[in-house]
Amino acid sequence: MNSVSARRSGQEEFDSIIESQEDVTPVVLAAMAQTPNARLREIAASFVRHIHAFAREVKLTEDEYDTGIDLLNRIGQATNDRHNEGILFADAIGLSTLVCLLNNGNAGATETASALLGPFWRMNSPHTANGGSIVRSPTPGAELFVSCQVVDAAGKPVEGVEVDVWQSSPVGLYENQDDSQADMNLRGKFLTDAQGHLGFRSVKPAGYPVPTDGPVGDMLRAQSRHPYRPAHIHFLGFKPGFKTLITQVFVDDDQHLTSDAVFGVTRALIGDYRRHDSGTPPAPDVRAPWYTLDYTFVMEAGDAKLPVPPIK
Ligand code: BEZ
Ligand code: FE
Repeated sequence: MNSVSARRSGQEEFDSIIESQEDVTPVVLAAMAQTPNARLREIAASFVRHIHAFAREVKLTEDEYDTGIDLLNRIGQATNDRHNEGILFADAIGLSTLVCLLNNGNAGATETASALLGPFWRMNSPHTANGGSIVRSPTPGAELFVSCQVVDAAGKPVEGVEVDVWQSSPVGLYENQDDSQADMNLRGKFLTDAQGHLGFRSVKPAGYPVPTDGPVGDMLRAQSRHPYRPAHIHFLGFKPGFKTLITQVFVDDDQHLTSDAVFGVTRALIGDYRRHDSGTPPAPDVRAPWYTLDYTFVMEAGDAKLPVPPIK
């Protein structure tokens, strides 16, 4: 039984002399108890309670503690303008998806399920005319024609939604990872028309391994986990008056659909990427097979705010 609260002598002073390991948690909580910001106070106290409980539960050794600190340091060192290892770590331990689902699409919600932003969203992708192509440098692969509609909770089309899309190439690389692709290849920003519609031409994305040359890769190997994400296209829908929608639509025939390394797949987000072997192609220069994807997004009324870009 610790005596920290009994020992507290005033608003700002308390006795932080530790008698035994049991004292550490209440002493730290008391030190933080005057945090003026109530939400920060709540979060920091809960974090300390849980991380101390974790250390006690596993009886963390000093070597293991050093390994954990080294992991944190290496995550920071591996992060730069073109790569965000911190987000990748949160993704790989399921924290990004958990926070995403805690805050979006609660029971009874009508909005489209959200999915993690991931580390590759860039803020200033090129505005592209509806129906235009996001292929900005030669990118061999099956042609894909995407047609989407954005509706509100009542099913009414929403005009003027800025929809940002980004995807990997048919060899599984984002342009920022691949010097052979033009800047902003397979990225674009569209505006929905009066019918809530947007469409674009692209190539069928491939699944890809998350970056494994940093500490997250070490963690996956230590856990005997594969690093693959099933192929998908990212969508970010933004319009003042609507809750920003951040999601992904997954390719239904991908071999890693049921074992995403970052736990992003929910059933509603598996798209119908339909293969066409014959018939009239959507553009004269298209050869079979080509693919089409039709998808309807539902956006709810709410706060429109953009996330902090993970890379520049
Ligand atoms: C992505 O979908 O872009 C992504 C998500 C998590 C880790 C790596 C990439
Ligand atoms: Fe992705």
